[in-house]
Amino acid sequence: MSEYSNNKIIAIRNELLTELENLEKKTDILKHPKLKQIYLGITNLPQEERKTYGQEANKLKLELQKLVEASQLPDQNLKPIDVTAPFAPNTPFSRRPNIFRANQGSTHPLTKEIDEIVDIYSRLGFTSIDSREIDDDYHMFTSLNFPEGHPARDDYDTFMTTEGLIAPAHTSTMQNRVLKMFRPNLKQGEPIAVVIPGRVFRNEDLDVTHEHTFYQLEGVFVAENINVGNLIAVLQAFMNEYFGQVLKTKIQPFYFPFTEPSFEFAIERPKALKKGNAEADQWLELLGCGMIHPEVLKHADIDSNKYTGFAWGGGIERLVLMKNNIEDIRHFESGKLDFLRQFK
Ligand code: DAH
Repeated sequence: MSEYSNNKIIAIRNELLTELENLEKKTDILKHPKLKQIYLGITNLPQEERKTYGQEANKLKLELQKLVEASQLPDQNLKPIDVTAPFAPNTPFSRRPNIFRANQGSTHPLTKEIDEIVDIYSRLGFTSIDSREIDDDYHMFTSLNFPEGHPARDDYDTFMTTEGLIAPAHTSTMQNRVLKMFRPNLKQGEPIAVVIPGRVFRNEDLDVTHEHTFYQLEGVFVAENINVGNLIAVLQAFMNEYFGQVLKTKIQPFYFPFTEPSFEFAIERPKALKKGNAEADQWLELLGCGMIHPEVLKHADIDSNKYTGFAWGGGIERLVLMKNNIEDIRHFESGKLDFLRQFK
């Protein structure tokens, strides 16, 4: 930038440069009143000085513009970020620097609960498979005996992608997959015995007991000569172990397209969850269940004349809410550390 000859412009230039340094929004300098003042000053000058003065004023404006533009560019002097691991990757755990201290984190309360539930079912002989978080119409509906256009499809307010993929509204979407996956068990005289924990999604109106994203646990059992008695026995064995007390249970008729007959399974309110003595509070409906519909077995190429089975599915948050007196289901997905730290 060449030298300025006008003292007034030199003085204002110095002031503006200092201000520019301190300005957070650098473009503001171009609207600075002092800059305007320079241009206004032109009118007080004798005719012969106006030309050089005007040129210098323009020069200053240009100089400032260039400085502003330069400030918008990424800083070339920033040091590159070092993305290499801060220790040799094969260093044994015991000798690695303590970068992420384990005591700063904790297992999410739902993960803990799922681990506990899956552990009990594994002791009852069940394998565990995670469910999926994106699925299709066949697994969500058709393979579960929801005929095309059946009103029961509307009971599940499913989220769908523009390509027609579905965020599963229940873990039952996994039934067809696990039946196919473990079908060879049957030939070897072994049952299909699988539990499937996973996240499910529904277009719910949100409130303290409704979340658009929540967890369910599905169970599937298939072998020869299986009946409703076996279903009840497995669920009772689980509940007794989970709540650490022998509980009364009951089933009542219900409707699901993928089970026949279908039931709702309820337990007497366990001691750990006792609220008052209100009669209405006595039974807790925990899950849906039933004998797997022959059509569902057929969709997995399982001979429904030879094999029968049962399935069940229920929510997980509800158990954790009740056990811990949590007032709002939305805390679980909120990522609020204050909430989560209570479960450490
Ligand atoms: N999928 C059902 C729901 O989310 C729950 C359910 C009912 C699962 C009966 C089952 C079953 O496996 O047999 O409402």
